[in-house]
Amino acid sequence: MGFLIWACLLQLLFLGSPRVAAQSPARILDAALQDYAYRAFVRPRTGIVYNATLPGNLTGIAVSALRLRSGSLRRKGFAHYLEFGLPTGIIVQPYVERAVLVYQNLGNWSDHYYPLPGYTYLAPVLGLLVYDAANLSAVGLQELSIVASGTPISVNFSNVRLVPPGAPAPRCVLFDLDGVPQFQDLEATNVCATYRRGHLSIVVNSSEIAPAPSGVVAPPRPSPGGRAKAWKIAAGTVGAAVALGLLASLLLCLVRYERDKKLELMERNAEVGETLRMAQVGKTQAPVAFGTRTQPVIENEYAA
Ligand SMILES: *[C@@H]1O[C@H](CO)[C@@H](O)[C@H](O)[C@H]1NC(C)=O
Ligand SMILES: *[C@@H]1O[C@H](CO)[C@@H](O)[C@H](O)[C@H]1NC(C)=O
Ligand SMILES: *[C@@H]1O[C@H](CO)[C@@H](O)[C@H](O)[C@H]1NC(C)=O
Ligand SMILES: *[C@@H]1O[C@H](CO)[C@@H](O)[C@H](O)[C@H]1NC(C)=O
Repeated sequence: MGFLIWACLLQLLFLGSPRVAAQSPARILDAALQDYAYRAFVRPRTGIVYNATLPGNLTGIAVSALRLRSGSLRRKGFAHYLEFGLPTGIIVQPYVERAVLVYQNLGNWSDHYYPLPGYTYLAPVLGLLVYDAANLSAVGLQELSIVASGTPISVNFSNVRLVPPGAPAPRCVLFDLDGVPQFQDLEATNVCATYRRGHLSIVVNSSEIAPAPSGVVAPPRPSPGGRAKAWKIAAGTVGAAVALGLLASLLLCLVRYERDKKLELMERNAEVGETLRMAQVGKTQAPVAFGTRTQPVIENEYAA
């Protein structure tokens, strides 16, 4: 038994600790906004922009929904979906017959959901996410990908704050669903371009500009002390979750071992016939299931 515990521990160490499912606040918001956007389709017609009604705790955010046939999106585009200009040649992946394009304007929540230390937002974060339109009462839908195969999608920001003279040039920032920022130059004044879904805005390196004037998008930042404390709490929580996960995996491993041992016993007791065959099936299934369950964890760990 002692050997078994060691074997289980080694396996856990080398196969990676169990996944700590940490959905970012931005992704949780995406899921909520998909739900509110879909509820905006009362008597849904394709090609019409519907504005969603959001609960009071999301005041400041605007969400719209637009349902289009994939074929129409590809052939005709949609020139003015609020700030987004969708050119011809946009391909939805994987293919669906109709797609819903969810527009998000995070307004004064931009800095909250997409914090970007060292930069100041000059415009709200806008999002364009795409979902399957097959079931308009669906929740928790997976985002579809889109690719602009010809000209890129343009985003014409309105109400962009001016930077003081001498400040560095504003840049576009693009976030894919993983929340990792990518910076690129503006296409034209207040215009960013993208070939994909995601969130984007215009930012400026804030190290060289004076403290932001009034009417700023950014809420007050937590003090360094507060941040350190929050960090400690977060680290503690993650640590506890990992420890709990390890313990659970250890138990699972032991249970699995007990089950295998029982099967082995059955096998030995049965000379021939059904019992033996069933036991073999049961036994060979166990490692297969285990393998498929652990592999994604490995990939995640090393791809990160
Ligand atoms: C929908 O919302 C947008 C801003 O997000 C606004 O410009 C537009 O006028 C609204 N449309 C309707 C029909 O209320
Ligand atoms: C907003 O309130 C709704 C209930 O009205 C709740 O389900 C949701 O979690 C809240 N969202 C946020 C971001 O606080
Ligand atoms: C955004 O503004 C609304 C009022 O317009 C307010 O209720 C909300 O708390 C603000 N959000 C943030 C993150 O400051
Ligand atoms: C902002 O600009 C300063 C000076 O040019 C530079 O040192 C710093 O790395 C920049 N910050 C970011 C976040 O790019």
